[in-house]
Amino acid sequence: MKTLIIYLSHDGQTHKIARAIGSYFTNCCECDVVDLRLAQDLDLQRYQRVIAGASIRYGHFAADLGRFIVQHLDWLHSIPSAFYAVNLTARKPDKCTPNTNAYTRKFLATTPWRPDLCAVFAGALCYPRYRWFDRVIIQMIMRMTGGETDCTKEVEYTNWEQVSAFAGEVAKLTAK
Ligand SMILES: Cc1cc2nc3c(=O)[nH]c(=O)nc-3n(C[C@H](O)[C@H](O)[C@H](O)COP(=O)(O)O)c2cc1C
Repeated sequence: MKTLIIYLSHDGQTHKIARAIGSYFTNCCECDVVDLRLAQDLDLQRYQRVIAGASIRYGHFAADLGRFIVQHLDWLHSIPSAFYAVNLTARKPDKCTPNTNAYTRKFLATTPWRPDLCAVFAGALCYPRYRWFDRVIIQMIMRMTGGETDCTKEVEYTNWEQVSAFAGEVAKLTAK
């Protein structure tokens, strides 16, 4: 089954996760990892399975995600599909499932897409790469929620075993 992994990433972590899932799939089948914004130019009918990933910024997924879903809803429902969300709230063990992660729960409640599988992964904190304003806001949120506040640091919270387990579950999805 040729698999498409599309991602929306601002600072690179969702892309990194997409590549990790992609490397899992290249062991068993053909797989392309593509920025969702460039996926418009692809012949989607060539794929028999799709995984979409997106990160949260200031409480929202990028609007391109919703636009892509509406535009390609029939295709998404015609093949096995999976979604993963990336955010820092998910670094907390009680906020890292589709039901317990508020962003993902809300997304699933409002999107017309019904992915066969869904996962939530903790992202990364990359203070040195943020603009001044973002750094100050994120530091404030981290202070309030007991996270890293040292602005010289980059911290990766992603649980790679969880990512690998998700890839394994997606690989088990059979054709519709
Ligand atoms: C400007 C900014 C805003 C963010 N807003 C949120 C947020 O509202 N909730 C949250 O849990 N994480 C938030 N994050 C954390 C990101 O979701 C996390 O860093 C993720 O790894 C980013 O993925 P990306 O590198 O693929 O863009 C924010 C990060 C930045 C830089």
